[in-house]
Amino acid sequence: MPKSYEFSPTFLWGAATSAYQVEGSPLADGAGPSIWHRFVRTPGLVLHGHTGDVACDHYRRMKDDVLTMKQMGLNAYRFSIAWARIFPSGRGAVNEGGMDFYERLVDTLLENGIEPLPTLFHWDLPIALDDRGGWLNPDVADWFADYASAMYRRLDGRVKKWTTLNEPWVVTDGGYLHGAVAPGHRNLYEAPIATHHLLRAHGKAVRAYRAEGRHEVGLVVNLAPKHAASDKAEDVAAARRADAYMNRQYLDPVFLGSYPDEMKEIFGDAWPDWPAEDYELIRQKIDFVGVNYYMRDVIRHEERKWPVKTAVVPQALSTYTQTGWEVYSKGLTEILVWVKHRYGDIPLYVTENGAAFYDAPCARDGRINDPLRVDYYRDHLRAIHDAIEAGVDLRGYCAWSLMDNMEWSLGYSMRFGLVHVNFETQERTLKDSARFYAEVIASRGAALGAGG
Ligand code: BGC
Repeated sequence: MPKSYEFSPTFLWGAATSAYQVEGSPLADGAGPSIWHRFVRTPGLVLHGHTGDVACDHYRRMKDDVLTMKQMGLNAYRFSIAWARIFPSGRGAVNEGGMDFYERLVDTLLENGIEPLPTLFHWDLPIALDDRGGWLNPDVADWFADYASAMYRRLDGRVKKWTTLNEPWVVTDGGYLHGAVAPGHRNLYEAPIATHHLLRAHGKAVRAYRAEGRHEVGLVVNLAPKHAASDKAEDVAAARRADAYMNRQYLDPVFLGSYPDEMKEIFGDAWPDWPAEDYELIRQKIDFVGVNYYMRDVIRHEERKWPVKTAVVPQALSTYTQTGWEVYSKGLTEILVWVKHRYGDIPLYVTENGAAFYDAPCARDGRINDPLRVDYYRDHLRAIHDAIEAGVDLRGYCAWSLMDNMEWSLGYSMRFGLVHVNFETQERTLKDSARFYAEVIASRGAALGAGG
């Protein structure tokens, strides 16, 4: 007998995007420039010199995009707010032109029965704040809390679940250690400082929420199981370091009040000691954790790979996405169960999960046939059902992404969307994966029982 699948009627079925990746019109209506506006203009940093100047033109096509979400049956939409639209220079007086866009977005979602899930920071720091040191300046925690408060005050009547940060690990690993994303620094000493101030900023924004908000606030992290490539002691130790670096570096301080011991092992004397009151600030009670899941990594020791000394071992029998990530749906169940066991029974959401594959448009009937992505979603949605059966309090799922968009330093070369975007004409076309996801939503999971 094939297994049957059923999700609770209150389960959130969503899709996610982020401001810089989809909006376009980055300076419209009084907005200030963000560090991505500068990063994309620095020669050689972004593939083919692509920018987010137009992206999916979502800033102007927002209403139609919400109707597309409705057509798919989504009951949630995860998006981010561009800090520099609200405060063009990071602080000061609210720019009503920018605020108006998010008010209209939230209202349009609500009118269509779609719950807004805003994230306050998805990597697009205002340039004016980067010029003052960005995440390296201790004052950034207050700047962020002030911005967060302005958003709570305006939208908390209409928004029930807030996220402070998206994937702080990528901000420090990519932005301050390896230079792959804005602000593009490569500095061993900066990365731990950025980590710490991101977490202080998160803590202050949660405190501010307790003073002004009436609903829920949480944090979104990206997690990946790190499996040792062999049972050799050095590979086992390497997998443990990789796990600390990516999975525990942020959640341990938030839930347990300290960083993993491995951080000192990895960073040596670049890892500072911090005052006790910082840990109290970071360890604020949160209402949920959002988990972004893309892959697992099989890890071996590699002395030359600075500073974690690990390498990922390719798996001969696995499928890989276009970004080179191993498709491994069991890892999603594993990581959700791990969060429950390590940090307690907190409500969880999968806030991102998806894959870039080459999508060939079918000339005859205009359909976009993306069988690899359909398989990917079928397997990962089954995996979240397994996690629920294992006792995880999982309350929703967001596919990454609603539509093809600007994949950061890879530009428009990687298509993650359920909805295809023709970047010449801005035409949107539902891919087969979007139709499949719509069937899963309409059947509350039953469609997962068939096929594959
Ligand atoms: C990010 C997204 C990104 C996606 C695919 C996540 O790390 O939050 O902004 O597009 O992964 O790389």
